[in-house]
Amino acid sequence: MEFGSILQFLENKTIFVTGVTGFLAKIFVEKILRVQPNVKKLYLLLRASDATSASHRFHNEVMRKDLFRVAKEKLGANFDAIISKKINIFSGDVCYDDLGIKDSSLREEMKKELDIVLNFAATTRFDERYDIAFGTNTIGAKNVMCFAKICLKLKLFVHISTAYVCGESSGLIPENPYRLGETLNGVSGLDIEEEKKLIDTKLDELKAKGATETEIKHAMKDIGVKRAKRYGWPNTYVFTKAMGEMLVGHFKENLPLVIIRPSMITSTYKEPFPGWVEDARTLDALTLSYGKGRLTFFVVDLASIVDVIPGDMVVNAIIVAMVAHANQPCDEVIYHVGSSVRNPIRFSNFKDYLIRHFTKKPWINQNGKPVKVVSKVTIFNSIPNFHKFIRIRYLPLLKVLELANTIFCQSFQGAYNNLNRRIKLVKRLVELYQPYLFFHAIFDDSNLDKLRIAAEENGVETDIFFLDSKSIDWEDYFLNTHIPGMVKYVF
Ligand SMILES: NC(=O)c1ccc[n+]([C@@H]2O[C@H](COP(=O)([O-])OP(=O)(O)OC[C@H]3O[C@@H](n4cnc5c(N)ncnc54)[C@H](OP(=O)(O)O)[C@@H]3O)[C@@H](O)[C@H]2O)c1
Repeated sequence: MEFGSILQFLENKTIFVTGVTGFLAKIFVEKILRVQPNVKKLYLLLRASDATSASHRFHNEVMRKDLFRVAKEKLGANFDAIISKKINIFSGDVCYDDLGIKDSSLREEMKKELDIVLNFAATTRFDERYDIAFGTNTIGAKNVMCFAKICLKLKLFVHISTAYVCGESSGLIPENPYRLGETLNGVSGLDIEEEKKLIDTKLDELKAKGATETEIKHAMKDIGVKRAKRYGWPNTYVFTKAMGEMLVGHFKENLPLVIIRPSMITSTYKEPFPGWVEDARTLDALTLSYGKGRLTFFVVDLASIVDVIPGDMVVNAIIVAMVAHANQPCDEVIYHVGSSVRNPIRFSNFKDYLIRHFTKKPWINQNGKPVKVVSKVTIFNSIPNFHKFIRIRYLPLLKVLELANTIFCQSFQGAYNNLNRRIKLVKRLVELYQPYLFFHAIFDDSNLDKLRIAAEENGVETDIFFLDSKSIDWEDYFLNTHIPGMVKYVF
């Protein structure tokens, strides 16, 4: 693999990005603008009713983020000029043909100009409604690919997927593509066309029955989980992302395709500054609940490896892969971007970091009070143990409240509802996150390793585009970067 300067490559390139209000695409756009303001143009698609509201969303939800502080400082007075000259923001939606881009002259311009297309758009909720997840992660991925294919001088399509399309497999997960109809449990019959028909029929039935929006939402969520489990995936998100990979692979024809599969993405390691993050996903749902004093137990296999990777390293991997394969077209290459092979950490380490951080530096709540966390968290190392605990500890309490209600005429109904709701919520969260809390696989990242070595050998700017997870000291990162970042930006 031979390629030259990444900064030179980016100069005068025209790049199309979807999902730009999202966490990862923001880090990507910031990096490009900061390190190569001479990029020719960035076309950014956002969901909005029109171009004006797309522009408002971009300024409020992207540019105003602290993430852009360093770029603003670096580019100084030129920053606004660069933004208005280099960035074209428009409304669209990947669920539709032509990506919902109504302006035909814009479509024509993009068709002529685009060098690279990157699809970050996705719905990342594990238990999203099936129709929405399928429309975005599966059909949406295909729509972006079909749009890319009609671009006249396109060099590469980069699709952002997830390492967890492997479901709950164990061992070393290879960087292999999915082919149409492939399933994780060997059950045959997965037909993406049929999934679409099934969704439409179910929606029609529900509407004909006069179902409320809430009933439709619950039914569509349930059906997503059922379809995912039928074919061996644990949730709707990873199932629809896997089908998205199948479709981009199937429809690519001659277009070079890179699929990036990151593991769990955490706050920035170095750039534009350490610790920038938004939202509490997967692992950080634990950080948030524990730091806020709400979590006294973990349901987790402490020995299992938790694969995390900082957002700026994922973006660097995307950019280096993009440059390498745009220079030397590939057919289809998959990159796992994670840490579980080169620099693994375990849940036991993560638990220790949380306890050490929050016992020493408790979160100061809205009333200015430090929030106490338990320093001895109870660990349930299996789901049955956790359910047993709930049965023994909380179900008797519920029964008492129920009895008290009948004796004291519903006086305890509020307390009963509250406890019942909390038990259900905790059980639901445990079930949702269970595949990742008891995950027994690691992600082969040989392709990324080859890319890293090639980048070093070619003398490209590896100081700017660092991507070696081995260089991370996890203890230092979690204690001094990630957890403080979560407290600052998410708590
Ligand atoms: N974050 C992680 O830990 C992680 C890990 C592995 C892989 N990934 C993958 O990385 C990519 C980016 O993830 P992220 O964490 O940045 O996600 P995110 O913060 O949830 O952002 C998702 C983005 O997709 C957009 N989007 C959703 N539906 C759309 C539609 N129909 N049309 C156009 N845009 C749509 C959202 O726009 P709105 O603002 O309009 O909703 C948002 O900009 C995803 O493909 C995800 O699967 C993420």
